[in-house]
Amino acid sequence: MMRFVTKLLLALAALLPAPALADTVIRATSPDGTLALALTTNGEGRINYSVTRAGKPLIGDSQLGFLFTDAPQMLRHFTLVDQASRSVDESWEQPWGEWRRVRNHYNEIAATFEETSKLHRRMRVVARLFDDAVAFRFEFPRQPNLATANIAEELTQFRVVGNGEAWWDPAFESNREEYLYNRTPIASIGTAQTPLTIRLTDGTHIAFHEAALVDYSAMNIAKVEGGLLKAVLTPSSIGPKVSRETPFVTPWRVMLITGDAPSLYAANAEILNLNEPNKLGDVSWVHPRKYVGIWWGMHLDTQSWSSGAKHGATTAYAKKMIDFAAANGFTGLLVEGWNKGWDGDWFATGDTFSFTETYPDFDLPGVVAYGLKKGVHFIGHNETSANIAWYEPRMGAGFDMFQKLGVDAIKTGYVSDAGGVQAMGADGKIHFEWHEGQVMVRHHLKVVEEAAKRHIAIDAHEPIKDTGLRRTYPNWVSREGQRGMEYNAWGVPKNPPEHEANLVFTRMLGGPMDFTPGVLSLMGRGNTPILSTLAKQLALYIVIYSPIQMAADLPENYAANPGPLQFIKDVAVDWDDTRVLAGEVGDLAVIARKTRGKNEWFVGAVGDEAERRFDVPLSFLGKGRWRAEIYRDGDTADYRTNPRSIVMEQRRVTAADRLALRIAPGGGAAVRFVSLGR
Ligand code: NOJ
Ligand code: CA
Repeated sequence: MMRFVTKLLLALAALLPAPALADTVIRATSPDGTLALALTTNGEGRINYSVTRAGKPLIGDSQLGFLFTDAPQMLRHFTLVDQASRSVDESWEQPWGEWRRVRNHYNEIAATFEETSKLHRRMRVVARLFDDAVAFRFEFPRQPNLATANIAEELTQFRVVGNGEAWWDPAFESNREEYLYNRTPIASIGTAQTPLTIRLTDGTHIAFHEAALVDYSAMNIAKVEGGLLKAVLTPSSIGPKVSRETPFVTPWRVMLITGDAPSLYAANAEILNLNEPNKLGDVSWVHPRKYVGIWWGMHLDTQSWSSGAKHGATTAYAKKMIDFAAANGFTGLLVEGWNKGWDGDWFATGDTFSFTETYPDFDLPGVVAYGLKKGVHFIGHNETSANIAWYEPRMGAGFDMFQKLGVDAIKTGYVSDAGGVQAMGADGKIHFEWHEGQVMVRHHLKVVEEAAKRHIAIDAHEPIKDTGLRRTYPNWVSREGQRGMEYNAWGVPKNPPEHEANLVFTRMLGGPMDFTPGVLSLMGRGNTPILSTLAKQLALYIVIYSPIQMAADLPENYAANPGPLQFIKDVAVDWDDTRVLAGEVGDLAVIARKTRGKNEWFVGAVGDEAERRFDVPLSFLGKGRWRAEIYRDGDTADYRTNPRSIVMEQRRVTAADRLALRIAPGGGAAVRFVSLGR
């Protein structure tokens, strides 16, 4: 029988065309040998790469190349002219973050290829292999036949071997990054934003993303056929999706690759490692903090950004909010609608906004000073309606004003439908752009750099996606970039119970999100229910990382919930360490974080629409005895029928104990561990 099968295979092989000559050019492995990459050129001189994990093919031969709008493609006729390799093992400290120290441990190969055809253009492929990630990027040296690269498309492919499921957020739709995740077979991926996460049937997780997105356009990923995926760059109004003078480097194309969901989350440190170190020097002026806002009322439509009877940003209300913040230990107050320009259809134009003039019922200097006296820092707000042609020439004056007043943080906003960014073109005319095109990539960095000059931190909404640039610019503290709490005010539909368990293993792989948790009323606009239990609102402070966290609800709703409010008062925002204790994409995330500079831990857990249970060791706790302050779903809690049922209890534990909790449908759990000494 065996001989017959062998013969049959040989006969079949004879019928197939001769395989192209594949010269393996260069190979590399990760430090522990788990991940391996091969860069090859084939008989046509095409460059391919492939990846294996523990010897098993993961990414099959996938092409690398470029299309240009004004020059022949770079895809074939490449020959290797130079190669180099190196290993790096270093660690560095985050000024704020999920971990204090980050280890940067990788093996790198760099291969320079040159076309043998008449243009002789060169490109260098640099690949880094970490134990839990593979990343590569292209370097274009200065060269006569490619002085300017007008890139029509990047031809990078990702040929996933094997079947599995994907969690993906559609690209190029009106609401930008704010869509619920699709969960489909890999073969049913459409055109996705990144991070795009897949889980193969053998349990291997891969998240595709990019790192160090600078002066380029953002990468999306589209399915070609079966498991073959390809990069799709975000378009621009001028033709080429990217236009750069050589020399330049592209962003890193990153695959976080792990054996389970918890380690996938931890692998996001590699995104930071792939970015340049801090360029700002001393950033002690960047402050992680919890903040309140004149904000939720607008989303509930009980207050307005615009002037008139419902105007939220009045001097009197701001002072009341400062008193509330100070009384509860919150050190920031965001005020939206403080400035002129919100009357009428602000969404449509953006050219009505002033970034320096207040509405007459708002005394900006008075409010800022009142807050500072009480230790509550004013957080400015610049909504632009994505009209950067209007904003760019005016933002400097706005930042100057805030700096003079002593304001050290600004939230920006780019509300418009996708493709509706208005930018000034080189031709002096307004061009319409995408939120993640090269123009916006440049714009966001310009804002962050201008803000840094004035010691101001930036929290961007409707942002460019996070690719780890907070390492280089630590004043880029947070951003939105997915459906946050506001969707629970007015969203159709509201965020479903699995939303945050999806976010942890997708959007959050990019970096912090200003989700704005903590709505203890559990009610959106017109008293419509939020699909969450009370305990879950607390868990979000741990599970959805951001160094600035809002206590988003109205003061009266906090006053009505003193027990749960205590957790929001106690919870930290800056961490020495983070460990994902358990998790499955879209089902469950249990995360432990150690407070920066303090012997204190927190655990947050979120589930989905089903009842979930977890049972995790507390071995992360240091020596000695601890008081666990537990906020868990009541035994009959359920987001549909009994969302407010919460149990607040205390237990004595040590590192030898376990934490076993039930998460209600739509629920969560939040625990603070206070050291009681030895
Ligand atoms: C959308 C932002 O996400 C939200 O937080 C803000 O209140 C509005 N835009 C208005 O700027
Ligand atoms: Ca689920």
